[in-house]
Amino acid sequence: MYNSKIAGLGYYVPENVVTNHDLSKVMDTSDEWIQERTGIKERRHVIKGTDTTTSMGVKAAKIAIERAGIDKNDIDFIIFATLSPDYYFPGPGVLVQRDLEIDTVGALDVRNQCSGFVYAISVADQYVKSGMYQNVLVVGSELHSHGLDMTTRGRGVSVIFGDGAGAAVISREEDSTKGILSTHLHSEGQHAEELSLIAPGMGKRWVLDILKDNDPEDESYFPYMNGQFVFKNAVVRFSEVIMEGLQKNKLAPTDIDILIPHQANLRISQFVQKKFGLSDDQVYNNIMSYGNTTAASIPIALTEAWEEGKVKEGDLVVLAAFGSGFTWGSAIIRW
Ligand code: UT7
Repeated sequence: MYNSKIAGLGYYVPENVVTNHDLSKVMDTSDEWIQERTGIKERRHVIKGTDTTTSMGVKAAKIAIERAGIDKNDIDFIIFATLSPDYYFPGPGVLVQRDLEIDTVGALDVRNQCSGFVYAISVADQYVKSGMYQNVLVVGSELHSHGLDMTTRGRGVSVIFGDGAGAAVISREEDSTKGILSTHLHSEGQHAEELSLIAPGMGKRWVLDILKDNDPEDESYFPYMNGQFVFKNAVVRFSEVIMEGLQKNKLAPTDIDILIPHQANLRISQFVQKKFGLSDDQVYNNIMSYGNTTAASIPIALTEAWEEGKVKEGDLVVLAAFGSGFTWGSAIIRW
């Protein structure tokens, strides 16, 4: 049995900045409301015809591969997490294999929304620990802006989400005291529709009927969130799954050097920070600048924290996520 570590990190966000003030010009909202409820000041939106979910993921992946100090053909497997794929099928994993022009390695797509990156590194961790693969590329990328309802009708959701991508190379680590110590994954499908995008699923309608209806008022094509219900579940599940990870490794909250929570809402991060008695330096937040980028939020935040010198060798790094499904998870890492 080997150990696995995060050997390289990268992120990419589109240049186009959309402020709260910009949003208030197209829907009934305000900078004050958005900042007070979510902490978000601005986010990035892809300008139509420029980036895609895959192209952003590829840009982040190239940086992560270079920083891991490996050649792209040393990648043994690709895992791509997103809720906003370029195509209905195939998923973006194979598009990354094509666009990076690497060997015909396997490519897996993960559909776990905000928990997607934690699920993806958990899968990568198992492959590396078992000895099956030495280097697994994990990408989390989202292009939300093309699918949001940018009218007052959609304001409860549309002000929150942003576009961007993050990537990590998970590699074999010989030192058994270092790397990914454990991952913890959960789901509760009972609440599947509380945070969801129902169409164009095949669940209830024939595709020919969908095309025939062509109804611009059909809200099932936009993401829906029962905000308060999701919020209440998030604070409980974040806390539970962080504690589960610490206990599994016989660690306590005081052992945490840095917590990188999925950037769902600054108020959720602050709740968790208080619960675990962590200082501002021990919790990394960048939702103010990027909004909620779902599967990309943890790898973007982790990369930024690492670039700023806030993730150092020997640190205990905790990743935690909660989102649509519901799904939630954590990863406990000795850097
Ligand atoms: O990443 C996956 C996990 N996601 C989360 O964990 C998110 C969890 N939920 C939340 O972050 C919060 O529930 C939101 C930020 C989405 C919403 O905040 P809230 O404090 O729960 O607001 P609310 O939905 O209860 O809405 C309060 C009021 C409503 O008006 P009335 O009915 O009181 O007159 C809304 O219509 O705020 C109104 N509202 C807005 N007003 C201005 C909703 N969205 C907006 C908006 N601008 N963008």
